[in-house]
Amino acid sequence: MAKEPVRVLVTGAAGQIGYALVPMIARGVMLGADQPVILHMLDIPPAAEALNGVKMELVDAAFPLLKGVVATTDVAEACAGVNIAVMVGGFPRKEGMERKDVMSKNVSIYKSQASALEQYAAPNCKVLFVANPANTNALILKEFAPSIPAKNVTCLTRLDHNRALGQISERLNVPVSEVKNVIIWGNHSSTQYPDVNHATVKTSAGEKPVRELVKDDEWLNGEFITTVQQRGAAIIKARKLSSALSAASAACDHIRDWVLGTPEGTWVSMGVYSDGSYNVPAGLIYSFPVTCKNGEWTVVQGLPIDELSRKKMDSTAEELSEEKALAYSCLT
Ligand code: NAD
Ligand code: LMR
Repeated sequence: MAKEPVRVLVTGAAGQIGYALVPMIARGVMLGADQPVILHMLDIPPAAEALNGVKMELVDAAFPLLKGVVATTDVAEACAGVNIAVMVGGFPRKEGMERKDVMSKNVSIYKSQASALEQYAAPNCKVLFVANPANTNALILKEFAPSIPAKNVTCLTRLDHNRALGQISERLNVPVSEVKNVIIWGNHSSTQYPDVNHATVKTSAGEKPVRELVKDDEWLNGEFITTVQQRGAAIIKARKLSSALSAASAACDHIRDWVLGTPEGTWVSMGVYSDGSYNVPAGLIYSFPVTCKNGEWTVVQGLPIDELSRKKMDSTAEELSEEKALAYSCLT
C-alpha cells in the first residue's frame, strides 16, 4: 500500500539552499524513494515572486513522489500540519562576517516562527536548523516552542561532518564511502572540533584507524582541523556566496538518518540538546556523535577523550554559552 505523504517545510525556500534542497526532497533523497512528500515552502513577501517561480519549476519537473506544494509568505499556512521543518530562511553570512554577526538580524524571526510551529505543526514535528548561527537559532526555537520536545529540535553539523570525511578521503586517496565515524563536536562555527580519534577507513585488510593510515599527527591536529573549521569561509571566498549544494545535501543526510536510522556501526554528527554528556554544559545545542533508530537519536557514550580534545570541546562550548547570552540580549 502506498505510504501517506509526509509534509516537509522549508523556510527561505526561494534562497540558494532552498533552490538546491527542494528538488532533492521531491526526488526522495531526504525520506526515501518510496516516501511521497508534500512540500511547504515559506519565504518573505519580497521573495514571493521568486518563490512562485520555484513552485512552477517543481510542477514542471513532474516529480512522481511530489503530491503537493504549498508556497506562501504566511507563517501559519506554511507550518500547518508539517511533520518535518527545515529552517533555512534568514539573512546569510557575507565575506568578513562571523556566523554570530548575523544573530541580531535573525533571532527575532525564529522566536516568531517557533510560536507558529508550536501552534500549527503536526505533533512530534522534527526540526532541523540550517540558518546561522544554527546551534543558537535552534536553541531559541526550542526555548520559544516549549511544547515541542527538546529532542525534536536539532541543528545541522552534518555538513562539517561530511567535510571532515571528504578531507580524509582526499588525503588518503580512498573513496569517501569507506571513511566513517569522524565527529564534529560543538558549534557550527570556526570553534567546532573535528575529531578523527575514533574514525576508521575500510581497507582490504579490514577497518583501520584514520590516525594509523594518515601517519601524520601534525596534519591531523593542525591543518585538517582548520580546513574543516574554515571551509564555510573558503566557499564564501570562492563563490561569493555561502555553500548551497553541499548544505542541501547534508540537510537531506541529517533528516534521512534521523528518520530512517544510521547504518550499524556508524555514527553521524548532529547538533542536539545537551544532557550533560561528555561534561558538555546541559542546555546548549551542541554537536555530538549520535546513532539513530526508530526516529530517535542517541548520543554515543563512553568514547575516551584525550587532553587536546577536551580543551577543544570546552572552548567551542564556551562560545555557545556566549552566543546564548548574546541571543537573549538581542531579544530584550
Ligand atoms: P539566501 O539568502 O540565498 O536565502 C535565504 C532565504 O531566506 C531568502 O530567500 C530570504 O528571502 C529568506 N528569508 C529571509 N527572512 C526570512 C523569514 N523571516 N522567513 C522565511 N524566509 C526568510 O541564503 P542561503 O545561502 O540559502 O543560506 C540560508 C542560511 O543557511 C544562512 O543563514 C546561511 O548562513 C546558512 N547556512 C548554514 C549551513 C550549515 O551547515 N548549518 C550551511 C550553509 C548555509
Ligand atoms: C557553511 O558552513 O558553509 C555555512 O555555515 C555558511 C557559512 O556562513 O559559513
